[in-house]
Amino acid sequence: LKHFLSIEGLDKGLLTEILDTAESFAGISEHQVKKVPLLRGKTIVNLFFENSTRTRTTFELAATRLSADVLNINIATSATSKGESLLDTIRNLEAMHVDMFVVRHALSGAAHFIAQHTAPHISVINAGDGQHAHPTQAMLDMFTIRQHKKQFEGLKVAIVGDILHSRVARSQILALNTLGVAEVRVIAPKTLLPAHVRSMGVIPLHDMDEGLSDVDVIIMLRLQKERMNSAFLPSESEFFKCYGLTEAKLLRAKPNAIVMHPGPINRGVEIASSVADGPQSVILEQVSNGIAVRMAVMTMTLGHHGGAA
Ligand code: CP
Repeated sequence: LKHFLSIEGLDKGLLTEILDTAESFAGISEHQVKKVPLLRGKTIVNLFFENSTRTRTTFELAATRLSADVLNINIATSATSKGESLLDTIRNLEAMHVDMFVVRHALSGAAHFIAQHTAPHISVINAGDGQHAHPTQAMLDMFTIRQHKKQFEGLKVAIVGDILHSRVARSQILALNTLGVAEVRVIAPKTLLPAHVRSMGVIPLHDMDEGLSDVDVIIMLRLQKERMNSAFLPSESEFFKCYGLTEAKLLRAKPNAIVMHPGPINRGVEIASSVADGPQSVILEQVSNGIAVRMAVMTMTLGHHGGAA
């Protein structure tokens, strides 16, 4: 695994290896061991052209726990604001003998572009590119589902909200189907579903009562207003009425269903506070699991298989 750019094309064995490796790293913090020397001497560059709270910080924590050195490039104060191109920025960072770029960019394909043009010894991890993919988010979500449900076979999963603009949903759908869940439903108004939704391996539905019926996992998504034409912005109150997850709507799911959200959450828009903070919510567990999953992906791409063992 040289780069980690997308879930597309990865098989069940590899996804399971990432989850198993992450599990060995999750055990580290349980045993109060904060660091392992697996990536000592390596330099990781966090190159975030788009804002982030969870992904950037958990990548930094993951790298630190693997004993790597981390450079966080602040794009707002970097020379990109003086017109330096993406490739020139990469070339200059390469000249500092770095080993990995963790890239977030508003343009779909940006991480692939960097992977194609960077030096052969450098690994690239996609930390979210436009509407295309967010593969480490999908894997930390799979990790969280496996923690709670033990296996993927037989699970019914509903993904609710702005599927159209969601790189998270695209990566989750690929991972869920590869890992062998029984059913992936996407629940949204037609305007927030991609035109080719039927070819995505999902069941598209427009009604929450029908869509949430008997599901094991509910994944709520934020309205990605930054990727919408302002003329077509849905009304938040209308959206909440039809597609917001409330305690009443949650009753349609299995009693032990878990509620997930990649964050950031917009309370009262796609999810009620009582559900986000309620007993079925695993939203903050997703954040914690991001560290172990990113440790796994970093070690596997830099050629250190076998996790913490
Ligand atoms: N889930 C996620 O990507 O969150 P951030 O934008 O805060 O990284």
